[in-house]
Amino acid sequence: MRKKIVAGNWKMNTVLPEGEFLVKQLEFLTKEMETDVEIIVCPPFTHLATIGKLIKDNGIKICMGAQNCADHESGAYTGEVSVKMLKDVSCKYVILGHSERREYYGETSEKLYKKINLVINEGMVPIFCVGERLEERESGRHFEVVSEQIQEVLYKLRGVELDKVVVAYEPVWAIGTGRTATSDQAEEMHAYIRRVIASKFGEHADIIPILYGGSCKPSNAAEIFLKQNVDGGLIGGASLVAQDFIDIVKSF
Ligand code: PGA
Repeated sequence: MRKKIVAGNWKMNTVLPEGEFLVKQLEFLTKEMETDVEIIVCPPFTHLATIGKLIKDNGIKICMGAQNCADHESGAYTGEVSVKMLKDVSCKYVILGHSERREYYGETSEKLYKKINLVINEGMVPIFCVGERLEERESGRHFEVVSEQIQEVLYKLRGVELDKVVVAYEPVWAIGTGRTATSDQAEEMHAYIRRVIASKFGEHADIIPILYGGSCKPSNAAEIFLKQNVDGGLIGGASLVAQDFIDIVKSF
């Protein structure tokens, strides 16, 4: 049985009091809820210490992740945040390789490989994002692009390390656009990703959770989550509305 996961990527949204309020709303909505879904919030860096404490002190049934981390352990890297710092404030997950970071901040596979190692070595879980751009899908190169993204980073890991990873398939053309992939498009790519991983790691591929991300909302989550190779979602916009986020969790 693979783990089911719904993770909220808040991106660069909310100031701290708004973030705290959102988590308190999530506490209220999850209090009586029985679920086998791992619910994760990934707030901005400035919120992590406070929200980590809020979750811990109140026994809230959600986990916390960061949206990025440094590619070095520590030292003279002005403006960066290390994995140790993230672990110290109770982060369990780190999103890596989000298309916005690849596109706007020049995140390369080499950098991502360094980061994924640091995260795994610190005992945290990377949520490794892959996905093609619109022009790549339209020219029929989407499988090739995603396969390359996986090979350039995940193929360099050992099987025991791979077992710690969560993959998120996020077609760039579906992120924040309201244009979601169809459940069949998602399943087709998720099954492909699992095959690409299996061709190097064999049965390790069976246990790796693969999340779908890109305009996932309460109205389309159930259909997508029903698919065999979809193990949850990485949710952007809809994770900023507590009820919508929890409705997505309940779509399983
Ligand atoms: P979206 O973002 O749900 O707003 O499309 C998803 C993501 O970028 O993780």
